[in-house]
Amino acid sequence: MFDTQPLYKVAKVLLAPRKGILAADQSVTSMNKQLESLGLKPTPELRRLYRQLLFTTPGMEEFVSGVILHDASIRNHTDEGTKFSDVLIAKGIIPIIKVDKGTVPHDNYPREVLTQGLDDLAERAREYYNMGARASKWRAVLTISDNTPTMENLRTDAMTMARYASIMQNAGLLPIVEPEVLFSGSHSLRRAQAVTTETLRVFFSALVEQKVDLKAVILKSSMVLAGSSHKNQSTPEEVAVATIETFKQSVPETVPGIVFLSGGQTPKRATANLNAIAKLEAESDLPWEFAFSFSRGIEEPVQNAWLGKKENVPLAQAELIKRLRLNSLADGGEYSPDME
Ligand code: G3H
Repeated sequence: MFDTQPLYKVAKVLLAPRKGILAADQSVTSMNKQLESLGLKPTPELRRLYRQLLFTTPGMEEFVSGVILHDASIRNHTDEGTKFSDVLIAKGIIPIIKVDKGTVPHDNYPREVLTQGLDDLAERAREYYNMGARASKWRAVLTISDNTPTMENLRTDAMTMARYASIMQNAGLLPIVEPEVLFSGSHSLRRAQAVTTETLRVFFSALVEQKVDLKAVILKSSMVLAGSSHKNQSTPEEVAVATIETFKQSVPETVPGIVFLSGGQTPKRATANLNAIAKLEAESDLPWEFAFSFSRGIEEPVQNAWLGKKENVPLAQAELIKRLRLNSLADGGEYSPDME
């Protein structure tokens, strides 16, 4: 069995106070959709230029401890030919590789999906390690409706996630486990809390069953909030109470930290909610470090400033730094909306 001690250090670096993780791991399909929504025709070169813009942003290392990369990006490079992973490592930022291969329908379970990607995972992990990655991410997707997620769907996805985490630890990569409970839907805050609590309990029980070292795992979680089409949208204070209560009921104390996805919230809302969670955390005696790990919640304003034009790169990079700085402040509970 692999010695997980070095992974404790990786967790510590990733969870450094006032820093977060930039999730730049959109799949080719998702990235293309984002480019199309800017009125651009997606090409591999445009995707490369966008990632170059992000990773070469001067000063990002003040706020970013790790960047999640897609397979296509970890193999890609700057105009000068420097590998993106080397650009990040030179800034003291840990390259994190997304290793799942997306979802497929869960046969016989309508509206539910399962994450795939276990076959050849150990070989891929070795390759990513040699490319400089020291952590990885695997995302499961859970939808709240009157009759989902089912326990069968949760258990199957959890077992796959646990296998992933075990393979990663044996390959020297810290696993970030991301069971994402989707924000979309008309469910109440109460229902979101009940489903997220159950989800996390089932996932952690599978990790324990597979003898995963929980001290060398980071949880990437949704914030707990009412569905995007529910009539009462949760306030930051409500989100903070429900999210922390959920973790107290479901996340083992040995897990070193929890990072948040933005899940389709606007960038401002995700930051305000993170701030409220950090404030409540400061009043509570919690065993975990918290941090942001947003994709859309950070990148949306960057993409809107860039619009695919070379001359807009400095402006877009300034937007990235602005969003990162605000989230760093929120990580310490020191953000207020008038800073926007
Ligand atoms: O897997 C999801 C990403 O890492 C986070 O994306 O912040 O847009 O929800 P998001």
